[in-house]
Amino acid sequence: MLNFSSVTKNYEENTVVTQALQPFNLQVSSGDFIALVGPSGSGKTTFLNIAGLLESPSSGEYTFLDKDVKTLSDKQKSRLRSSDIGFVFQGFHLLPELNVYDNVEIPLRYSRVPAKQRRASVMSLLEQVGLCDRINCKPNQLSGGQQQRVAIARALVGKPSLILADEPTGNLDSQNAADIMAILSSLNQCGTTILMVTHSLKLAQQAKRAIEIRDGVLKERCIEHYAARWG
Ligand SMILES: Nc1ncnc2c1ncn2[C@@H]1O[C@H](COP(=O)(O)OP(=O)(O)OP(=O)(O)O)[C@@H](O)[C@H]1O
Ligand SMILES: [Mg+2]
Repeated sequence: MLNFSSVTKNYEENTVVTQALQPFNLQVSSGDFIALVGPSGSGKTTFLNIAGLLESPSSGEYTFLDKDVKTLSDKQKSRLRSSDIGFVFQGFHLLPELNVYDNVEIPLRYSRVPAKQRRASVMSLLEQVGLCDRINCKPNQLSGGQQQRVAIARALVGKPSLILADEPTGNLDSQNAADIMAILSSLNQCGTTILMVTHSLKLAQQAKRAIEIRDGVLKERCIEHYAARWG
């Protein structure tokens, strides 16, 4: 589904170059569930941004659903993002002027889903994340955990084939985190591919593969490595 070959990412600011991602190769198959772990500043968000066509690699080859990303126009990339990718951003990125319902509905409007179908999908997702009683609230009237659940509902509502989630359970208590993991796991069992950043080794264990990023270096780890650390 995704294929990275010698991909790197550098950021250049006032002649200072940060090597955010060192050259890496990675194949992500359809139906994978990959946990991305690593310390702050190691390159996890940068990796997700490249995987999700929000940023371009500095060098190397990246193919997304058999398409060489270098050959795609901005418009083609944004079409692919709205048809195939659900993002849960680290800072939620909810639109402050829109209520919960409208925030979750956005991806369906972009992909021109008919109104009746939009309503059914939005309400079903809001029910799954337990926010049906908050549909008219604006993001600033919600707790951090509730905002996080809105962001998750918005990522899932368009039934994307790939979910990129940056700490989707970071602001949730253990029960809510477990509920979100259960939703992600059941989507994965139905074939959705998931790349999920997490600081929790316990959650990482629930994925099928684990990739550790340190100082921009990606390393595949066996899940048992984490299981052993947690006994
Ligand atoms: N737009 C940017 N311009 C310049 N440097 C950047 C930019 N985005 C990220 N970086 C740098 O790239 C490196 C990796 O950042 P990244 O955000 O990917 O880390 P992260 O692993 O997601 O960290 P965290 O766990 O804190 O979210 C850091 O050194 C960061 O300062
Ligand atoms: Mg990050």
